[in-house]
Amino acid sequence: MTYEQAYQESLNSPEKFWAEAAKKVHWYNEWDKVLDDSDEHYKWFVGGCMNTCYNALDLHIHNGRGDQVALIYDSPVTDTKKKYTYKQLRERVAKVAGILANKGVVKGDRVVIYMPMIPEAVIAMLACARLGAIHSVVFGGFAAHELASRIEDAKPRLVISTSCGIEISNIIEYKPILDEAIKKSNHKPTTCLIWQRPQYKASMLPWRDVDWESEEEKARGVDPVPVLATDPLYILYTSGTTGSPKGVIRSNGGHSVAMKWSMDNIYNAKAGDVFFTASDVGWVVGHSYIVYGPLMNGCTTIVYEGKPVRTPNPSSFWRIIDEYKVNVLFSAPTAFRAIRKEDPQAQWLKKFNLDSLKTIFVAGERCDSDTLKWIEKITKKPVIDNWWQTETGWAIAANPMGLEPMAVKPGSPTKPMPGFNLKVLDENGKELPAGKKGALCLKLPLPPACLMGIWENDERYRRGYLDQFPGYYLTGDTGYIDKEGYVYVLGRMDGIINVAGHRLSTGEMEEIVSKHPDVAECAVIGVNDALKGELPMGFVVLKSGIERDYNGVIDGIVRLVRHEIGAVASFKIATIVNALPKTRSGKILRKNLREIADGLPLNIPPTIEDTNVLEHCKEAINALGYPQIKEKK
Ligand code: COA
Ligand code: AMP
Repeated sequence: MTYEQAYQESLNSPEKFWAEAAKKVHWYNEWDKVLDDSDEHYKWFVGGCMNTCYNALDLHIHNGRGDQVALIYDSPVTDTKKKYTYKQLRERVAKVAGILANKGVVKGDRVVIYMPMIPEAVIAMLACARLGAIHSVVFGGFAAHELASRIEDAKPRLVISTSCGIEISNIIEYKPILDEAIKKSNHKPTTCLIWQRPQYKASMLPWRDVDWESEEEKARGVDPVPVLATDPLYILYTSGTTGSPKGVIRSNGGHSVAMKWSMDNIYNAKAGDVFFTASDVGWVVGHSYIVYGPLMNGCTTIVYEGKPVRTPNPSSFWRIIDEYKVNVLFSAPTAFRAIRKEDPQAQWLKKFNLDSLKTIFVAGERCDSDTLKWIEKITKKPVIDNWWQTETGWAIAANPMGLEPMAVKPGSPTKPMPGFNLKVLDENGKELPAGKKGALCLKLPLPPACLMGIWENDERYRRGYLDQFPGYYLTGDTGYIDKEGYVYVLGRMDGIINVAGHRLSTGEMEEIVSKHPDVAECAVIGVNDALKGELPMGFVVLKSGIERDYNGVIDGIVRLVRHEIGAVASFKIATIVNALPKTRSGKILRKNLREIADGLPLNIPPTIEDTNVLEHCKEAINALGYPQIKEKK
């Protein structure tokens, strides 16, 4: 089948196309209906009965691959390397599922997982899937406030965490963050299962906390619990335009089908291949391509606890590829920009053999042509950009390397994948012709694995994604499609920014900055950054009448954002201004602030209230050293 045939069939006969793809998944009971589109939740494989963990582990053992390595843990920060075969991984997962069951966790219960990149994070996710419990993984770089808001929303019966994470050489004490989060949350989990690491021993609350290791020693493994295809597998919170994160719901059946289709057709990864996704289980890329996709396809997945650089040098990716004979590498462009910054001539790479590597995939943020070409040049491998989001769970646009590899156009994630009926719409919802920029929207229904809704918030689901253009899902990204059908993603329509591949909300940062007692009002924008893609920049107007040390105030604001969101916010640049530029109706002209900071031509709206305010902000931005002079490449 060619790409064009697959794409057309997926749009013309979606039920036929996805029913065929679903044959690769193990079902206890096949579905009654492939797609139920009777309401906006678009349920796939209705009535089908399966178990995601069975598909990820037991099925391979059943098929004779039990002694193949399923997971490699490589941790330069703790100097540890460990391998688990499918049998060994299943044994641990089944036992941990047994612990959860003993603590009263049943199908449909939520379990929050707050873990660094250690095998136990993957084991915890799969143990939940085995029981039909809904996991919600919270990225380790988030602080107590963020963790609390997720606990409050998901209402987990149980939380799984660890004593600490390790950031290069810093020990991040996770358990005290968890304790603080539970204190802040109105919902209290009954049990916390804690993996104690030797680097830091957490203190335990005897009435709530349970030691994972000793429980696992005495636990008995449990079998997978059959669930409906439409039962949720997980909730993954992601940034929206406001302070409260949105819980994206992903179902079991559609997800498994899309994972398998994408592994075969996009990533071209076969059973036995070694798949290395350098991301984090806290992000959707980690869910799909560290855990579920590779394991469902019988690959060996790598759990890497380290950075692309500084753990200990910029050769980590190359060393891992050589050492484990990696076939597919997947990371964010920012990781390669970090490597390039430290090793522009790729001297470190020369020590390693990349022969096993077939393809490098990048996602999570826009991949600039320059970075893409550099990776291609130094590795001599195809570099494939793919565009997606937490909500979709897999690539909206990609180059299907297992189906029909196409010519790469740097700057484009190639073409829409089957089931994603991508259109570019103008502000009135009218479809735009090739080459014209507009809102990137997906004609409904969305293919399997895409969000079934927002956890306990249908209103937010409709308002955020479906109401703007009836019949379409709003991705929130802008872009265009060229005459040859190649997609170009240009940026966001809302206050979401992408910092080192991490999705963050400027709206949330504004809410936090406004909490500072000296702040009258503020604006946070994203500005271009050569390493992280984007960085947040804050503009603060102070309340009048109080004597202040301006540096002290900025310092306090920076610490406040770090305390509330976490270090991952990378909020370090802020300035005090007399006023914020606004339209006559009071709308803050964030776009103009960004144009100044990025050195772009200014598009001042005729409705601006006072151009002097914008001039004043320009001086403040210049004083911060922006726009930054672009480095000569
Ligand atoms: N737990 C605790 N803290 C974390 C964390 C985690 N899991 N992940 C990041 N942080 C902290 C960092 O230590 C850093 O703290 P600091 O301000 O004290 O230095 C801060 O959050 C910002 O992190 P980050 O933006 O990742 O910057 P960095 O300088 O540590 O690393 C890169 C920069 C480019 C090397 C790194 O972002 C990277 O490897 N990115 C790969 C992309 C990726 O994984 N994207 C996910 C989606 S695909
Ligand atoms: P997240 O939900 O964290 O995966 O972030 C999704 C957002 O990241 C998308 O809506 C885009 O704005 C951006 N993004 C992800 N991948 C790409 C890509 N390949 N090209 C451009 N933007 C991307």
